[in-house]
Amino acid sequence: MKAETAMTYQLDKLIGQIKKLPTINAVAFQVIQLCSDSDTSISQLVKVISVDQSLTSQVLRIANSSYFNYPRKITTLERAIVILGFNLLRDIAVSIAIYSLYKGFSAQSGVDLGAQWRHSITTAFTGRAIAEKLDPAAKEVLYIAGLLHDLGKLVELRLLPEEFPMLVEKSRQEGLRLDVVERRLLGFHHGDVGAALLERWNLPEKLHQSTRYHHYPEEFEGDPAVAGLVRQVYLANVVSHYLEGEQPGMEAVVAYDPDFTRYFSFSEEEFLGLVDYAQELIAQNQAFFDIIGS
Ligand SMILES: [Fe+2]
Ligand SMILES: [Fe+2]
Repeated sequence: MKAETAMTYQLDKLIGQIKKLPTINAVAFQVIQLCSDSDTSISQLVKVISVDQSLTSQVLRIANSSYFNYPRKITTLERAIVILGFNLLRDIAVSIAIYSLYKGFSAQSGVDLGAQWRHSITTAFTGRAIAEKLDPAAKEVLYIAGLLHDLGKLVELRLLPEEFPMLVEKSRQEGLRLDVVERRLLGFHHGDVGAALLERWNLPEKLHQSTRYHHYPEEFEGDPAVAGLVRQVYLANVVSHYLEGEQPGMEAVVAYDPDFTRYFSFSEEEFLGLVDYAQELIAQNQAFFDIIGS
C-alpha cells in the first residue's frame, strides 16, 4: 500500500480528465431530461425512444418477457404502453438509458458493474418508496437521482485505476465509509466527481446537487426544494446499504452513518416500515431490472 500522502490528488485535475470520458448519447440525455420533469407526456417520450432502435428493441424485449406474460407478441411502442402503462415504460426507458452510461464506463475498467448496478437500482427504488411517503411529486426524479448517485465511483475507477481499488480496500480494512476515506486521502469524494460529470453532460442541476451531496446533505446550501431531494437521496442510499447488509435494526444504519439521526427522526418502527415498503417495491420490479442488467 502506498503512503497516504502519495495519494494527494487535485479534484480540478481529475475534472480536467473527465473530458476524455465517454460522453452521454443524445437519446439517454433526452430521456433523463424528460423523465426528470414531472410534466412529461407519453407522446414526447415515445417520440424520443422511437428514434433509437436499440432502446426501442430493449423496451419491447422487456414488454415481451415472461414477467408480463402477455399472450401475443408486442411489436410496437404504442402497444407496449398499453401493456406496461406509461409509468413503467418511463422507468424502463430511463433505466436502460442510465445502464448504457454504466456500460460506457465499464468497457475498459474491469468494474463489478453488476454489484454497482444493483446498488443503484436498490437506491432508486428505495428513493421512490421514500418519495411516496414524504414527497409524492418527487417520485420520478428520486428514482433517477438514485440511479445516478454513485456514478462518480465508476469515473474514479476509470481515471484513478491504481488509487481507487486501494481506497476501497482501505475503507474495508478500517471499517469506514468510502467517501470518508476518499475525503481524507484525495480531498474530495465520489459525489464531487459524479456531479462534475453530470454537469459536463448538462443534466439538470438538481441531479448534480443530489449526487454531490448524497453523503453530506448538511453541506448543501441552496434551493430548499433541492435540499429536500438531496436529503432523500441521502436517506435512500443509507437504507439501500442497510438492505444490502446483514445486520438488522436501526443500529446498522447508525453504524453506517452516525449522523443519520441528525437528518431524520424516525422511530425504529417507522424506519422498518419504510424498509419493508422499499423491499416490496424492489421485489415487484425485480424482473425488469434483471433483464436490463443481463
Ligand atoms: Fe456514495
Ligand atoms: Fe451509494
